Amino acid sequence: MFGKKKPTPQIDKEQLALIKYAEKRIKQKKRVYVHFVVFLIGSVILILANTILGIGKDIKIAGLDWFVIAIVLWLALFIYHFVSVFITHSFMGKDWEDQQREALVAKQQLRIEKLKQQFLKEETEIAKTQAYNETLERSASNQKKKSELTIIVAAGENNAIGKDNDLIWHLSDDLKRFKSLTNGHHIIMGRKTFESFPKPLPNRIHIVITRQEHYKVPDGVIVVNSMEDALDAARNDKQPFIIGGGEIYKQSMALADKIEITRVHHSFENADTFFPEIDTSIWKETKSEFHEKDEKHEFSFTFLTYMKK
Ligand SMILES: NC(=O)c1ccc[n+]([C@@H]2O[C@H](COP(=O)([O-])OP(=O)(O)OC[C@H]3O[C@@H](n4cnc5c(N)ncnc54)[C@H](OP(=O)(O)O)[C@@H]3O)[C@@H](O)[C@H]2O)c1
Repeated sequence: MFGKKKPTPQIDKEQLALIKYAEKRIKQKKRVYVHFVVFLIGSVILILANTILGIGKDIKIAGLDWFVIAIVLWLALFIYHFVSVFITHSFMGKDWEDQQREALVAKQQLRIEKLKQQFLKEETEIAKTQAYNETLERSASNQKKKSELTIIVAAGENNAIGKDNDLIWHLSDDLKRFKSLTNGHHIIMGRKTFESFPKPLPNRIHIVITRQEHYKVPDGVIVVNSMEDALDAARNDKQPFIIGGGEIYKQSMALADKIEITRVHHSFENADTFFPEIDTSIWKETKSEFHEKDEKHEFSFTFLTYMKK
């Protein structure tokens, strides 16, 4: 139980490889020797088969007996075998194999090193681009925050805003308020709302959204093909206004910061265009100013301001 441990023989890897190589060479040489013996016996059998047993006596190839051709071919095969074992292997032996392997490994390592360098370079570029994009995004969002995108609208109790591409009411104080709030600003509108105006409103930059490629407008009016392009065209305005109609209001609710709505206290059942419902979990009423109906105003109304929470 407590006897001495038997010492285990230690052979290093190199010695082991040399032994394996020597064994492999012995096998190869043995095979050449066996091949030679088989060739000699085979040749004798072929000669006897032809001369004594008369097998294929009449078969001649290029004027020679078939067995002569067979023996010559076999001899060529044997010579090839002999040369490959004793000559080729002697100068393409283990050392040569090791050299080749080392050269290959060195080549692969060089390639890996190059790939590593390239990878590092690309990673640095990506990191730089990301940092650059983040800076751009930050400055863009800072810029966005500086402007207050405002929806301005007049809507009935049932959210009605128009019929047959026109307004349903005439409230002069509401128009006055519209004019004073939007004066000097960019006003963004859908193509149909633009067409409901007799002419562009003075002292405002009109941005008309349409999907048409060659939509014609008077000088000074900007035509764009998307809401993004409209906002981009108004990016230097601290308070661009979305002025309708129904389709454009719907698309801008998520983008706007403020709603200036004139709530007309009547339900207009004959309307064909509506303002979206104001979700009070998103919007907070911050201002309210009631206006009684009078000889100039057929309906009472309230100016309401909502801010996005
Ligand atoms: N009460 C109010 O405060 C108020 C204010 C404004 C308007 N309105 C009323 O609203 C009605 C008009 O509204 P509406 O909804 O019929 O039309 P709209 O919103 O004024 O315009 C719709 C048009 O805008 C273009 N458009 C919409 N979304 C687009 C997008 N994402 N990209 C490119 N183009 C786009 C299309 O033009 P194309 O067909 O040319 O492609 C579309 O036909 C009228 O009755 C008007 O009087 C009321």
